[in-house]
Amino acid sequence: MISIIINVSFLLIHPAVAPWVCTRSCPVGCTCSQEESFTVLCDRIGLTALPGKFPCEASSINLDKNSLTFLSERAFGTLPTLRSLSLQYNNLSFITPGAFKGLPNLVELLMGHNEYVRHLHTHTFTSLRRLTHLDLSHCNLLSIPNRIFQEQTVLQKLLCFQNNFRRIPGALRGMESLTHVYLERNRIEAVAYNSLLGLSNLRALNLQENRISILHEKAFQDLCNLENFNLNDNLLADLPDQSFKGLWHLKMLNLGGNLLTSVFRTWFSDLVELEVLYLDRNRLSYIEEGAFENLTSLITLHLNSNNLTTLPFSVFQPIYFLGHLYVFRNPWECDCNLEWLQIWMESYRLVRDIPCVSPSSVAGLDLSEVVYFRSGGECLDPEELNLTTLALPTGSWGFNSTKNHFGSMLSKLQQNSQELNASEGLNNTVLDQVVGPMSGVASYIYDSQIVLPLLVLVVFSLVVMGSQSAGIS
Ligand SMILES: *[C@@H]1O[C@H](CO)[C@@H](O)[C@H](O)[C@H]1NC(C)=O
Ligand SMILES: *[C@@H]1O[C@H](CO)[C@@H](O)[C@H](O)[C@H]1NC(C)=O
Ligand SMILES: *[C@@H]1O[C@H](CO)[C@@H](O)[C@H](O)[C@H]1NC(C)=O
Ligand SMILES: *[C@@H]1O[C@H](CO)[C@@H](O)[C@H](O)[C@H]1NC(C)=O
Ligand SMILES: *[C@@H]1O[C@H](CO)[C@@H](O)[C@H](O)[C@H]1NC(C)=O
Ligand SMILES: *[C@@H]1O[C@H](CO)[C@@H](O)[C@H](O)[C@H]1NC(C)=O
Ligand SMILES: *[C@@H]1O[C@H](CO)[C@@H](O)[C@H](O)[C@H]1NC(C)=O
Repeated sequence: MISIIINVSFLLIHPAVAPWVCTRSCPVGCTCSQEESFTVLCDRIGLTALPGKFPCEASSINLDKNSLTFLSERAFGTLPTLRSLSLQYNNLSFITPGAFKGLPNLVELLMGHNEYVRHLHTHTFTSLRRLTHLDLSHCNLLSIPNRIFQEQTVLQKLLCFQNNFRRIPGALRGMESLTHVYLERNRIEAVAYNSLLGLSNLRALNLQENRISILHEKAFQDLCNLENFNLNDNLLADLPDQSFKGLWHLKMLNLGGNLLTSVFRTWFSDLVELEVLYLDRNRLSYIEEGAFENLTSLITLHLNSNNLTTLPFSVFQPIYFLGHLYVFRNPWECDCNLEWLQIWMESYRLVRDIPCVSPSSVAGLDLSEVVYFRSGGECLDPEELNLTTLALPTGSWGFNSTKNHFGSMLSKLQQNSQELNASEGLNNTVLDQVVGPMSGVASYIYDSQIVLPLLVLVVFSLVVMGSQSAGIS
């Protein structure tokens, strides 16, 4: 009865429309259910053309995985209560302008995986004024017209990943309602100053796996509510100084898999809410002191798979909340500058996977196995000791039985104290502390410089993950 009234009322409102704009019966081959909402399931039934009419009360129609190639104007008739329409995994190649007319309450339109779409007309989405969620992923689109979303003023989520866009579609500009934009796996090469203008409600932006090598300094200036930002796996060799200026609410920033060689202190100045930062899989060999200075919310930092030889403790100050630090796969120089990291690792009995590449005396060892000699409270770099004078049984610095070796080394050291006294760098000093991998933290006589920040950090756990966690990033 209700449907008849709806039918009649639509006929009255739209006298020009063909009489059968919807029907009361379920289309042949489809399954209709009316449990919570009126659902029409027509997926995987080999359709090459749309059924003539859909039920007037339909609130959701699924036409996935058929062989539809064409949508005519007003292809679905008039369905006043339709909220969700899915056309994924078809072979749509032509969509007539106005194809979705007659669906005034559609909020979700899913058209992903139609590999032959390639082009869309400016009026493709005409009259879809309530649309909040649009999926155009995997459609091989080369671009979309600048005015295509003119009526979609409440669009929130736009999925356009895996297309062939060479730049960020101009259609996005000024779409204040957008909260999520997915543009990963396209061929975007640059982000211009005006590409993302006015997107002040954007929370998530995914640009990963494009070919971006150029960012305009002000490209992201309007994204003041952005929380998750993927820029990983692009071709960025450098960033403008103020790239992320004003992104006060950013929680996750992924810059992994680029060509960055340095991290500068101007980059992250404003990211006071950032919790996770990915800088893995770059070519970093330099991190400017203070680079992470204002990241007071940081919990996880990924620095693995870079070209870092050292990581001054001062780089981290004053980050108080660091919980996870990933540093494996870097050519670490395990001299005294890295001793703090060893102490940190040992304090939390962490995975040992910080391989030392230099100095030569410790090359091939894990940082956790390096023995730092102390003299008058000062750490002595491994290379300052001429190890051959210790006449180690194995003839090398490598350990095969750490504990036994450590014991024997102690006695060798005592025997050779005379020689050590005389050697450069040990002049007039006493080896008052010798610490090794098995001795634990308690036997250190901490430098006061290192002990205070460490005590602050003790509250939080540091995880120096091993290669087994490589999959995480
Ligand atoms: C899909 O459409 C394209 C051209 O529009 C055609 O070449 C292709 O054979 C079609 N594929 C299938 C599976 O029908
Ligand atoms: C950290 O923030 C303060 C205050 O906003 C600012 O003066 C300082 O330059 C920032 N530090 C860095 C490294 O950008
Ligand atoms: C790693 O850094 C060194 C200098 O510290 C540089 O000579 C070398 O080319 C870098 N390697 C890569 C792969 O960037
Ligand atoms: C270390 O000592 C040995 C024996 O005293 C000497 O032959 C060798 O040249 C020294 N090596 C270095 C790098 O000083
Ligand atoms: C250390 O290694 C050497 C040669 O690699 C071997 O002969 C020796 O038995 C090993 N010692 C221990 C304690 O494993
Ligand atoms: C080594 O240093 C100790 C302590 O300073 C000193 O007593 C000893 O004479 C020194 N030996 C040599 C050979 O200088
Ligand atoms: C050892 O110290 C003495 C005095 O402190 C100094 O004269 C001498 O040059 C030093 N030797 C070396 C090898 O540094």
